[in-house]
Amino acid sequence: FTVNVDPSASDKGTYPYYMLKEIDEQPNVMRRLSAKYLSQDGQTVLDPNLLKAMANADRIYLVGAGTSYHAGLVGKMQLERLTGIPTEVRVASEFAYDEPLLSEHPFFIFLSQSGETADSRQVLVNVNQQHYPSLTITNVANSTLSREATFTLLLDAGPEISVASTKAYTAQIALEAILAKAVGEHLNRAVARQFNLKQQLALVAQGMQMIVDEKAQIEKVAQDAFVNAQQAFYIGRGIDYTVSIEAALKLKEISYVHAEGFASGELKHGTIALIEAGTPVIGIITASRTASLTRSNLAETEARGAKTFVIARAGLSEAGDTFVIPDVDELLTPLLSVLPAQLLAYYTSLNKGLNVDLPRNLAKSVTVE
Ligand code: G6P
Repeated sequence: FTVNVDPSASDKGTYPYYMLKEIDEQPNVMRRLSAKYLSQDGQTVLDPNLLKAMANADRIYLVGAGTSYHAGLVGKMQLERLTGIPTEVRVASEFAYDEPLLSEHPFFIFLSQSGETADSRQVLVNVNQQHYPSLTITNVANSTLSREATFTLLLDAGPEISVASTKAYTAQIALEAILAKAVGEHLNRAVARQFNLKQQLALVAQGMQMIVDEKAQIEKVAQDAFVNAQQAFYIGRGIDYTVSIEAALKLKEISYVHAEGFASGELKHGTIALIEAGTPVIGIITASRTASLTRSNLAETEARGAKTFVIARAGLSEAGDTFVIPDVDELLTPLLSVLPAQLLAYYTSLNKGLNVDLPRNLAKSVTVE
């Protein structure tokens, strides 16, 4: 009742594992999405019926599981900023059996790499019974979720074989941004019109390339601080908090280091009790309004013995930051800040001698609830 893709069925070339290949493919995935859904002059190219249906909604519900749910957390911020439509994100397995009080004209977006996740499908079955409009954003054409939703947008990220999702996460976030801009323009919102996504996605692709070219530095950090760690924490605020959760999931699922992502302000309300001498804590700092707050929360963990690291965007970076990523629009920073975390998880797993692509107890696609 779970589906595991046979890794030998697709070519990984000279790569030791699919995960590294898929991480490296991300700059090209960005370029492909930009070419497919944005015209040369930056106009969005999306089904007008989809835009109309979304523009008519009084609330958008994003539904997903695992990494796709985390991509939804970023999508909420993009949709609310660019369209002005209140948006909620829900874990599929929770939503299916405890449906919240819905608004009068809801629109549902299903995020699923495989398009087959049973938890998400159960929500879609309920949504269809109530005749609400829906969109599936997936990497697999003709998948169940794609066939059963009103609309589909394809990620075109190429097959993702490694169990830990990487390029599907960034593709989902880029496509959510394109969708948010298109719906915002349809609603005649200046903030959406002025968002130069074509140019921004080109910067993102360039920035991703820079990060994947710095693998050696990331591997060294993995060897020095993560391979022997019992636990690790990622912290951030706002959009950086959403990436913290995804970053921690990557580390957990393939390196078996117990990791959690926290809203950095919440740390002092309990979790800081877990910090011991040498516990790795990584701060993600791309949101300008909260940068200094996250830095002081990081300093609090350091004062209790933590070994701290920083992923910061250039405009907010300070001397000594571990990974400095290029500046892009604040709605797109997860596309860059997650890459050092993906690579850190990869190298921790690799240096522990684990099977990076096929971690224990997990399946690529879970078709049971
Ligand atoms: C499984 C995978 C995860 C994935 C989740 C949702 O648990 O191991 O990597 O994020 O399913 O999958 P989906 O195909 O719906 O995105």
